[in-house]
Amino acid sequence: MQAVLVKQPGDSSQLTFGQVGKPEPKPAEILVKIKAIGVNRMDIVQREGRYPVPAGASQILGVEMSGVVESVGTDVTSFRVGDHVFGLMYGGAYAEFAVIDARMAMHIPEGITFEVAAAIPEACITAWQAVKHISKLQKGQDILIHAGASGVSTAAIQIACLVGARRIFTTAGSDKKLEHCRSLGATHTINYKEADFAEVIKRETDGRGVDVLVDYIGASYWQRNLDSLALDGHMVLLGFLSGVQLEKANIGPILFKRLTIQGSTLRSRSVEYQQHLAEAVEKHVMPKIVSGDFKVVVDKVFSWKQVAEAHRYMEGNHNMGKVVLTIGDE
Ligand SMILES: NC(=O)c1ccc[n+]([C@@H]2O[C@H](COP(=O)([O-])OP(=O)(O)OC[C@H]3O[C@@H](n4cnc5c(N)ncnc54)[C@H](OP(=O)(O)O)[C@@H]3O)[C@@H](O)[C@H]2O)c1
Repeated sequence: MQAVLVKQPGDSSQLTFGQVGKPEPKPAEILVKIKAIGVNRMDIVQREGRYPVPAGASQILGVEMSGVVESVGTDVTSFRVGDHVFGLMYGGAYAEFAVIDARMAMHIPEGITFEVAAAIPEACITAWQAVKHISKLQKGQDILIHAGASGVSTAAIQIACLVGARRIFTTAGSDKKLEHCRSLGATHTINYKEADFAEVIKRETDGRGVDVLVDYIGASYWQRNLDSLALDGHMVLLGFLSGVQLEKANIGPILFKRLTIQGSTLRSRSVEYQQHLAEAVEKHVMPKIVSGDFKVVVDKVFSWKQVAEAHRYMEGNHNMGKVVLTIGDE
């Protein structure tokens, strides 16, 4: 089968197509003929050779996809050949075929396209993990979600709305992105290039701060994140887009405000952990996606032959929501 390969760790020019063996489903797995693939920041970091691929996972890029069941492992009873499925996987989605643990696969509901289905798992499961599972945001609480127009945050804003958050603050680098965040339910938006988000939070919350904060930026936001949290506040750290080294920091707020700071990566988790989150998303979010009350934001769809262009588009911070690749029958 054809797959996207990385010649040498590096920039998008290292992406190429090559022939690799078609994977065989283990007893608990299903083999899927891929129709669409969700692109993630993580794919770019992995392409650069900076992402530790979990032991035993495919080295091929891609952690989410949608497609048609080609064959099923001997223990699988929940899927049949020809079913339309989507889901999160440990790797291998940038290919014509991939295997996924049946516990992580979901049936695509009627009316949902392959493109939309492929854009759901990583964003919704990561956002659910941060907002509900880890920080346990409560109705009436305030939350700050950084990189508001990122794939994950477009889902996180809407999950915060579902919970009944009082105020949903979000940051982004352009007014167009902020307008989009407001259309998803953000109540307060901050262009981080024009204003200091910590000052805005302080002013808008009368110095109290937010109860929950979701961050992927890391070093450059560290101090202002601590300053923006309320007493007993909870920060979920999911990425380090600005780096990992702190020049100088005042860690006093961690003690005096009794802060909880928790990091997490989804991909390194057990199937059971991921399945638990996927089931919650299937139960609480999917019906709203089907009814149109929860928007799966697909910014741009590329043919997988344009994978390098799709990576450059995301690296340029152009996307609002998800970037998706499609595989035709060409
Ligand atoms: N830990 C986990 O389990 C997990 C799972 C999934 C994703 N993630 C992480 O979550 C983050 C979002 O992923 P995604 O795929 O949704 O990303 P994405 O759609 O590519 O969005 C990332 C956005 O972050 C902003 N950004 C980039 N560098 C920045 C910087 N130095 N300072 C401030 N803003 C910056 C940009 O928007 P602006 O134009 O607004 O600057 C960019 O468009 C990534 O860091 C990813 O690795 C973590």
